[in-house]
Formats: sequence, structure tokens, C-alpha cells
Amino acid sequence: MSPETPSLLQVTGLVKRFGGFRALDGLRFHLNAGEILGLVGPNGSGKTTCINVISGLYAPDGGEIRLGGQSIGGLPSHRLVHAGINRTFQIPKPFLTMTVLQNVEVSVAYGGHGQEGLDPHYFLKLLDLESHAKQPAAELNSAQQKLLDLARALATKPRVLLVDELAAGLNPAELEKIAAKLKELARSGMAILVVEHLMGFIDQVTDRVVVMNAGKEIFEGVLADAIRNPRVVEVFLGQDDAA
Ligand SMILES: Nc1ncnc2c1ncn2[C@@H]1O[C@H](COP(=O)(O)OP(=O)(O)O)[C@@H](O)[C@H]1O
Ligand SMILES: [Mg+2]
Repeated sequence: MSPETPSLLQVTGLVKRFGGFRALDGLRFHLNAGEILGLVGPNGSGKTTCINVISGLYAPDGGEIRLGGQSIGGLPSHRLVHAGINRTFQIPKPFLTMTVLQNVEVSVAYGGHGQEGLDPHYFLKLLDLESHAKQPAAELNSAQQKLLDLARALATKPRVLLVDELAAGLNPAELEKIAAKLKELARSGMAILVVEHLMGFIDQVTDRVVVMNAGKEIFEGVLADAIRNPRVVEVFLGQDDAA
């Protein structure tokens, strides 16, 4: 990519503090349109915090986040959704008493594209949830709630999709399907950040990975090189819990 065409999402020197602790400590990476980038690292390295800050759940304490060249750091979540950033949650948070269909209808209505005649059923079909459309979201199992979370995010038509541990809890057939869907979305031009512990899944879906440790990136490149990188190996093997 030439210097004249900046990445869709550019993160530089990103800092997020919780009290005196820096969960993000100068994180830097970029994400291109049509690309799936894996964000990996040990538990507590700051992956979810990264998604929380980029999606506006927390304001950054330093650094810059640019979307299409525009500085967007610190904007509230609803403004970011309208700007084209949305995310899924490590622990999904559907409206439990509403039906599966209503959950997606809310995203269509408030996602900034309600006037475009988006069909909520399209997103339910895309994620194999159509047969559950009339059930309360509370009746879905955890894997289905993850798919609903993804359907809700997609119904806001994001340009940048941030996915937090979607694969955990899915069976191999579900993993295969979701991998194919993420790749299809990327081919349509969406930029996708995938946080995931399952390295097989990362290997299958990502074009490139960023490895994080203690709030900053320690490696950026293809997974095949990451697993041979001494710093990456030390971070993953030098801890008790390598989950
Ligand atoms: N809301 C919060 N308040 C205080 N500490 C937090 C909060 N969110 C995350 N942290 C801390 O920040 C660090 C990074 O957490 P997290 O981003 O969830 O890591 P990961 O997703 O890589 O496992 C951890 O030490 C965690 O305890
Ligand atoms: Mg996490």
C-alpha cells in the first residue's frame, strides 16, 4: 500500500489507563479495507481493551485513532457506529427479553442505515438464525448468542468490524461456517479485526497478525513468522496460562 493511500483504520500510540495501570501502553497498528487482521496475545495483554477503546466504550487516555484519515478517538459508541465502526462482545449482550428478530431490528433502526430498506431477515439468514427469529434471545445457547451479536453488528453496515473471541464455544462445523462468512465480508471490502485464542482459526481467516503483550504490539506480520519470532515465543510460552 502506497503512503498516499492510508489504511482505513490507523491506531498510533494508543494509551488506556485503569488507575495507575496502563492496559494499553502505546499500541500501534493499522487495518486495511478488505483485510482480516488477527490480534493475539496472552490473557490480560489488552486485546479487549483495544476493541473497547476503538469502539468508544472507553475514551483513550492518549494516542490517536483515525478512520479514513479522520481522528475519531473519544467519540461515543453511537457516533462511531454511524461512522462505520462496530464490534461484537467477548460475552454477548443481546436484549434478552426481545426476540432474535427484534434484536436485529433495533440495530437496523439505530445503526444509521434504517432508511435504506435493510431487511433484518437478511442478517438472520446470513448467520443461520432465521429459524429462531421469534424466540426471545434469552433462549439461544451461547454460540447462537454470539452469532446474534455478529448479526446485530453487521446490521449497522460497518466498514470496520471488531470481533472479540467469537470462535470460543463454537463447534468445528460452526467455526468453518463463520470463517467462511468473515472471509466473504472481507472480500466485500469490510476491514475486520479478529481477537482470538484459537490459533487454527487465526491461521484460517487472517491475512496478517499483530501480537500484543502488556498493552503494546511486539510483532506485526504473517502468523507463520510470528510463531518463529523469539519475543512472541517467550510471551506465549513464558507464562503459566497460555490459554
Ligand atoms: N474496566 C476495567 N477496569 C480495570 N481494569 C481493567 C478493565 N478492563 C480491563 N482491565 C485490565 O486491563 C488488562 C487488559 O485486559 P483485557 O483488555 O481484557 O485483556 P485481554 O482481552 O487481552 O485478555 C487486564 O489486566 C485487565 O484486568
Ligand atoms: Mg479479552
